[in-house]
Amino acid sequence: MKKIGVLTSGGDSPGMNAAIRAVVRKSIFHDMEVYGIYNGYQGLIDGNIKKMEIGSVGDIIQRGGTILYTARSDEFRTEEGREKAIAQLKKFGIEGLIVIGGDGSFRGAEKLTQKGYPCIGVPGTIDNDIPGTDFTIGFDTALNTVIEAIDKIRDTATSHERTYVVEVMGRHAGDLALWAGLADGAESILIPEHADDFEDVIERLKRGKDRGKKHSIIVLAEGVGSGMDFGQRIKDATNLETRVTVLGHTQRGGSPTAADRVLASRLGAKAVDLLLEGKAGRVVGIQNNKLVDHDILEILDEEHQVDFQMYELSKQLSI
Ligand code: F6P
Repeated sequence: MKKIGVLTSGGDSPGMNAAIRAVVRKSIFHDMEVYGIYNGYQGLIDGNIKKMEIGSVGDIIQRGGTILYTARSDEFRTEEGREKAIAQLKKFGIEGLIVIGGDGSFRGAEKLTQKGYPCIGVPGTIDNDIPGTDFTIGFDTALNTVIEAIDKIRDTATSHERTYVVEVMGRHAGDLALWAGLADGAESILIPEHADDFEDVIERLKRGKDRGKKHSIIVLAEGVGSGMDFGQRIKDATNLETRVTVLGHTQRGGSPTAADRVLASRLGAKAVDLLLEGKAGRVVGIQNNKLVDHDILEILDEEHQVDFQMYELSKQLSI
């Protein structure tokens, strides 16, 4: 393999730039040409493709977002769109593709692999919802953004003796809420993988109040429902002064943590190694601190699991 392409797709995540840098530098190290495809699969269809050099990825390891930009392409979901993308790959002589993104992006990579274009997926999403890897690129940074925000909310919650509902991202996954809730000592954590236990939340709030607690923090994963609605339900049930904060897209930005930079560098380089070994249709990951790769179809078929032991622990520690 002499020419490969790299793109980022779906929601961005901090550390994607470090992954792009690793792909570019590792490819050049192995005497391959590497092409940056801008704006995800839409850019591939449109031929928005440029050759990358060593310097193209200088000074980006510490930057959030993605220098290749990203998009969610409806056109690529059609057979016609994918034919156009393949025509561009042929035009540029690109023999293999590295796709940095989440499960939606891997679906596209799988379709291209089926058509004879070897693709490797690199998990980049703040949601941490990709099976076959303990962590996705961007999760650690987003988690730190969330806990920094909750620490600040806690100050004002204490001063005013209020209850706060903090809604965090994660789409259908509860990892961000669970880890943030545990790291922040939240009174309750609500995740989509576990049935909404409203009575338990109310019980904990009342217990806390009875023993003189000044404030309460409830972390709610967006997959459970609206933070605003949940806050209203709490107010109605307890009469406690309640406020709601939706952290939103602040969770997707910012300079990646050391953990995300290292993870992105390792996974990006591993993806290049797999292409060099002639592999196709794989997703790289990290399990027990070892680099691994799995069949992309297995990853797409499998359901992401949260750590229920952590969930139980959070309940035991916030009695
Ligand atoms: O998948 C990443 C993510 O940030 C989810 O946590 C969230 O639900 C979604 O993307 C938001 O998407 P958009 O940026 O299109 O609003």
